[in-house]
Amino acid sequence: MNAKIFFPENGMTAPAKEGDTLLDAIRAAGLPIEALCSGRGKCGKCRVLADGAECLACRTPAEDGMRVEILSSSSGQEILAGSGVSEISGEDSGRTAIAIDVGTTTVVVKAVDTGSGRDLGVRAFANPQRVYGADVLSRINNAMDDAALLSGLIRAAIDDAIKDIVGDIIVARGAGVTGADGVEETGGDCPEAVEETGGDCPDAGRSAGVAASEGVEKVVIAGNTTMMYLLLNLRCRSLGLAPFEAEYGFKEP
Ligand code: FES
Repeated sequence: MNAKIFFPENGMTAPAKEGDTLLDAIRAAGLPIEALCSGRGKCGKCRVLADGAECLACRTPAEDGMRVEILSSSSGQEILAGSGVSEISGEDSGRTAIAIDVGTTTVVVKAVDTGSGRDLGVRAFANPQRVYGADVLSRINNAMDDAALLSGLIRAAIDDAIKDIVGDIIVARGAGVTGADGVEETGGDCPEAVEETGGDCPDAGRSAGVAASEGVEKVVIAGNTTMMYLLLNLRCRSLGLAPFEAEYGFKEP
């Protein structure tokens, strides 16, 4: 079966195959939905209207031609309270570093001036991987052999946050230029705080590369082991099966 599911409210369609649920189709379309139990039918959050009838997306088979409206409250990158940019001070050097805390629930991206040490701004948002479950185990189960999907979600969100916060700082400085003096190119290698100890470091420098292109001289990233695996696009099999040992470690530079 090659079905097509319609999302008129979002102006989108998504393909569905035999055995897919509406939640699969919504994920395939990249649309935001709360799915805290990752499709186990427990949390009741993935409510949709399917051809006018309310149901759980994860319990409803996708059938060709269905018209679906998402009822759960999630809407794209949810920016949380406390996000914003500080007033620019004359003490600032104009050189910027970024610190990122990748939490299972919340991600915080903070910019600091490396000369004065002052906070320049912060952006906090709900981790977009929650579409694949609220807890670490759900995320691991969805990335046992392939972490590309979840990795792509978090990296795109972090990249957007870096661009937004640095853009706001540039506007606040009134500089109208990207980049600061003395920028060290960090793209292409592992972000400094997540230098990986074994094997390759697949695509780890993408966020660092985005930061460098925005004039940021240093990026430090912290998170629990699963969040680091998913950020670095590392399969989670060793985290989800006994003896539950990480294949890779992360060390301070
Ligand atoms: S009830 Fe559907 S994702 Fe939780």
